[in-house]
Amino acid sequence: MSSGKIISVLLVIGAFAGGAYYGGQNSTSVITSSRGGASFSGGFDKSADQKNVSSTTKSAVIKREVEGKVHRVNDGDSIMAAVQLAQPGDTIQIMPGSYHETVYIDKDDIRIIGVIQQGKRATLDGQGKLNDAILYSGNNIVIENLLITRYKGNGIMGQAGNNFEIRNNVIVDTGVYGIFPQLGKNGLIVSNVISGIEDAAIYVGMSDNIHVAYNDVFDSVAGIEIENSRHAIVENNYVHNNTGGILAFITPGLPIKTTYDVIIRNNFISNNNHKNFGAPGSTVGGIPAGTGILIMAADDVIVEGNIISGNKTAGILITDHHNAPNVTIDPESDPVPHRVMILDNLMINNGYDTIDEAKALMLLEFKQGNPDIIAIGAKDGCIINRHRYVTSGINDFKECSFTNTAATQTYLLDEPVPPRIIDPSERGKVVYMGICAGCHTYTGRMIGPPVQIIQALYMDNPQGLADYIEHPIKKRDDYPEMPPQNYLDAETRLAAAKYMLGRTN
Ligand code: HEC
Repeated sequence: MSSGKIISVLLVIGAFAGGAYYGGQNSTSVITSSRGGASFSGGFDKSADQKNVSSTTKSAVIKREVEGKVHRVNDGDSIMAAVQLAQPGDTIQIMPGSYHETVYIDKDDIRIIGVIQQGKRATLDGQGKLNDAILYSGNNIVIENLLITRYKGNGIMGQAGNNFEIRNNVIVDTGVYGIFPQLGKNGLIVSNVISGIEDAAIYVGMSDNIHVAYNDVFDSVAGIEIENSRHAIVENNYVHNNTGGILAFITPGLPIKTTYDVIIRNNFISNNNHKNFGAPGSTVGGIPAGTGILIMAADDVIVEGNIISGNKTAGILITDHHNAPNVTIDPESDPVPHRVMILDNLMINNGYDTIDEAKALMLLEFKQGNPDIIAIGAKDGCIINRHRYVTSGINDFKECSFTNTAATQTYLLDEPVPPRIIDPSERGKVVYMGICAGCHTYTGRMIGPPVQIIQALYMDNPQGLADYIEHPIKKRDDYPEMPPQNYLDAETRLAAAKYMLGRTN
């Protein structure tokens, strides 16, 4: 056969195969180039708050006019003692060494900087006994370059502090939450390495205007979690070997009831097939192993430019509250995920060993193959290039009216927000929202028992509750220990107790 003939035979085969392909596909499939199209212009209206700036590395804390004092902490000294001496504006430099303590920061504008010398870091080691490494409630707090390990509760927890930067920390095996800003506005979590966390490695709770970028998150139950929070961007992270990779959802029963306006883009989300070792009955304890991205009841979530590979249940799982395990419905939270927007993502080798529920959904739609995207109960979603993926539950998703989010660089604010000023009458509420709600929801099980159960025990005895949280004793076999709240003064503990007893949702 002459070479001319081979070419013509190939052309014929090619034309046939092409015709079969396009003819066999849904003839309305729209093929879009994400480079050409319009950019997303919705989301957070910065003009309502402040002007927006455009860099992922911009600062979230107030720029210092005058640098304060530098307090150096040497191996064997106490970090907490240095914090007690520090004034707002000061920097605490921690030299390499081992530190066994919990550091509470209740002042504003303090920077905790680990000094790294020839690879050796300042190491906070809880030795399996202490609960938390760092708890801050001040505003404009920076925490960087630490190594945190073997705590039982949190690595770094923010309790109602605004404008924070948590960067370049290594957090290994620290119990429940690795980095956990709760009730904060305007914060950056960047370039941390976090592993071995029983709940969420990075847990953004009830917060606003958050940027989570360039973190390496692995071997945990949930990788990165945006929960009851708004205006968050999660980008350029490497999220692997967790049970679930990146999660945007609403936990019912928390005082703040919504999650919306979240962009998840340009992350590597691979092989998140770790056996679930979360607390039985907890929300993350219900995540099926092998979930790349989970969107539960959150609205306006955009998924773009991620490489999502090797997640055995599904690349993207979207669900309402009704179909999620371990979730109690909250009448004040909308259980439906509205307007999930899926732009171009590279998805390979997902869904190869999926859950029975997903198989059943596929069967209902006469779909075959391993699911990249599974949705149940989602409303008003959109997608581009849907023909690329094996999907179920998104037939009613429309074509998105934009193809990229390039116009939205960050939701961080141009100017740090003013420090939160807490009126004494609000103290109980802020403690409840900033601390207790990290582990207790009103109706359901989280890390601790539901508030309704606690109310039944203590309704007429707020002082008893306040005493319990000062020195909790282990009561329930199927729950972990509750960490003592003895760093709060007696008045504040009582205020929190009364506030908890007074809640109705
Ligand atoms: C790090 C998670 C965590 C945080 C934060 C937390 N709790 Fe708890 N709480 C628990 C756990 C776990 C239990 C169950 C302990 C047990 O039964 O052994 C519990 C139990 C309780 C109980 C039940 C006491 C009893 O007699 O049965 C009360 C009351 C309580 N917490 C109040 C609070 C208050 C108030 C706050 C905020 C100041 C708070 N908790 C913060 C985890 C937490």
